[in-house]
Amino acid sequence: MIDLFFKVRDKERRIVDKDLFETVEEVFDKATVQAVLKLMRRGVVHSLKGVVSSGKESRVYWGKGRGGQDLALKIYLTSSAEFRKGMMKYILGDHRFDKGVPKTTRKLIILWAKKEFKNLTELHKAGVSVPKPIDQYENVLVMEFIGREGVRAPLLKESDLTTEEYATIFQQVIEDVRKAYTKAGIVHGDLSEYNVMVWNNKHYIIDVSQAVPTTHPNAADLLQRDLKNIVRFFESVGVSTPPQNKILEYVTGKTNKLEY
Ligand SMILES: Nc1ncnc2c1ncn2[C@@H]1O[C@H](COP(=O)(O)OP(=O)(O)O)[C@@H](O)[C@H]1O
Ligand SMILES: [Mg+2]
Repeated sequence: MIDLFFKVRDKERRIVDKDLFETVEEVFDKATVQAVLKLMRRGVVHSLKGVVSSGKESRVYWGKGRGGQDLALKIYLTSSAEFRKGMMKYILGDHRFDKGVPKTTRKLIILWAKKEFKNLTELHKAGVSVPKPIDQYENVLVMEFIGREGVRAPLLKESDLTTEEYATIFQQVIEDVRKAYTKAGIVHGDLSEYNVMVWNNKHYIIDVSQAVPTTHPNAADLLQRDLKNIVRFFESVGVSTPPQNKILEYVTGKTNKLEY
């Protein structure tokens, strides 16, 4: 893994490994480097260690905190016209974020990172199992690292568990969808086996930038889609699940018991 780190001294940055910095600089624009440095000055981030995942619009890095704890930094880097259209669907109708939607790409990306941090914070407060939110500055979101020593935990999709273990995780994910809806007032909107990680037999729901308040015009459809994805996955690994309308009543708080 790359072991790159910046040192901040007297407001000046010294790049410890020049070659590695150049590799990273290709993906980081100046403003992003500045944002990471800001988080270092705040004492949130000590070093950036390597790439965990590089998606189309964002990258996730493994980093270290001042106290040596592992961090995950999700950095939004670019935005295609298509991504922009996608983001707008979740921003418009979200009363927390739809006042004065920014015109520039960078500002839109920053809003998107803010939205993810806000969702993560609200979900965490409601007791949903998500990586602990740590900080956000501009297009950089810092959270608890799920995994160990820079090796991320497997996604639910990649996990290899017994049917019983899957059944337990299914129940816990449903409990979390219920907490998200009834306590945080949030619908994830992109829930699937690709956005749940499994570590030490515990699940973590990730990737919450697109999550919307239950008042969003598409919240009901998004919730149905989330449940459909979850049911489909767990059925495929041999878990028998209740009918979706029963799950819907349960997660929205209309009933207090989920019958199997
Ligand atoms: N807190 C975290 N700890 C460890 N790995 C993470 C964490 N958050 C995300 N990842 C890894 O990064 C990948 C991409 O993150 P995600 O938030 O799903 O963004 P996207 O799917 O939009 O690229 C995940 O599939 C996972 O492998
Ligand atoms: Mg994802």
